[in-house]
Amino acid sequence: MKNDNILEVRDLNKHFLMKKSLIKDRQVFVKAVNNISFDVKRGQTLGVVGESGCGKSTLGKTILRLWEPTSGTITFNGENIVDYDGEKIRSLRKDMQYIFQDPYSSMNPKMTIRDIIMEPLDNFRKELSTKEKEEIVVSLLEIVGLSKNEMNRYPHEFSGGQRQRIVIARGISLNPKFLVCDESVSALDVSVQAQIINLLVELKKRFNLTYMFISHDLRVVKFISDRIMVLYLGEVMEIADSNELFANPRHPYTKSLIGSISKGNPRVKNPRVILEGEIPNAMNAPIGCPFSTRCPIATQKCHVEKPLLREVDSNHLASCFYA
Ligand SMILES: Nc1ncnc2c1ncn2[C@@H]1O[C@H](COP(=O)(O)OP(=O)(O)OP(=O)(O)O)[C@@H](O)[C@H]1O
Ligand SMILES: [Mg+2]
Repeated sequence: MKNDNILEVRDLNKHFLMKKSLIKDRQVFVKAVNNISFDVKRGQTLGVVGESGCGKSTLGKTILRLWEPTSGTITFNGENIVDYDGEKIRSLRKDMQYIFQDPYSSMNPKMTIRDIIMEPLDNFRKELSTKEKEEIVVSLLEIVGLSKNEMNRYPHEFSGGQRQRIVIARGISLNPKFLVCDESVSALDVSVQAQIINLLVELKKRFNLTYMFISHDLRVVKFISDRIMVLYLGEVMEIADSNELFANPRHPYTKSLIGSISKGNPRVKNPRVILEGEIPNAMNAPIGCPFSTRCPIATQKCHVEKPLLREVDSNHLASCFYA
């Protein structure tokens, strides 16, 4: 493992068995994460982008061992954590935290904010007294821009942006090294989005954090990420540094995503490409390139042969025969 990588993922798979198979006596799997490999450098933000259902949340949860991987290796801080079980998986929570896609459903509505933020401390910092833990909760609230007067209120009494601040406070309460932020700003108004992103950027500097930042919105990902990974139907289409990805996208899928956000902006050089067609059903993914059914440049080869992720430029990977 390279020393400056905090995380190395190799050939990771997470397949779900569908209970009600359409064809009798045949097992049907959804390959939500399909042979994914990538690295995350310490202190950087890896943005993960792709349309709904492409496997972003499954990838995040599997990397953190919240879900059992089907196969592959996940090397975190030099150790393959796929080998971990029981107590060792539990102890990972101190270093790796997941900030869930929907903050409201990840908070117990009957618990006060104080108890919600204190929960990880109760579980992992048993040496602390209640008073000490309360002091930490107060300082965490301050760090994320909330007041200690809000401590005894309940989740439903807060706005979406405030709830996001609460789950961020809980996420950093154990001083983790690695945070997966899953659609942390997607449900918020643009101005509140900016506040939360600025908060995440500030926390990253202050606490030397590394982020995996998941979003279906390429604009948000562009703003916060050092490097970006583009997913489609559970597979990596392209990985490159953020600036390089936007200046020189190589995969037709990335080009169409960028095209769809730059619509109407004359300063963006890339020609506008409108994504046509539906995403194929994940249970019935194409045999060849997963994007082949919607790709404007697909050839016969793309429908039958799967392109491998390969280096198309220095530090720039894409999985397309024509990238
Ligand atoms: N527990 C599960 N059991 C079966 N299939 C699942 C499960 N969780 C996710 N999937 C399937 O895995 C695929 C990837 O889902 P996932 O939630 O990871 O996508 P996503 O990229 O996070 O989407 P979104 O942007 O909507 O959050 C989907 O086809 C989904 O239906
Ligand atoms: Mg998701």
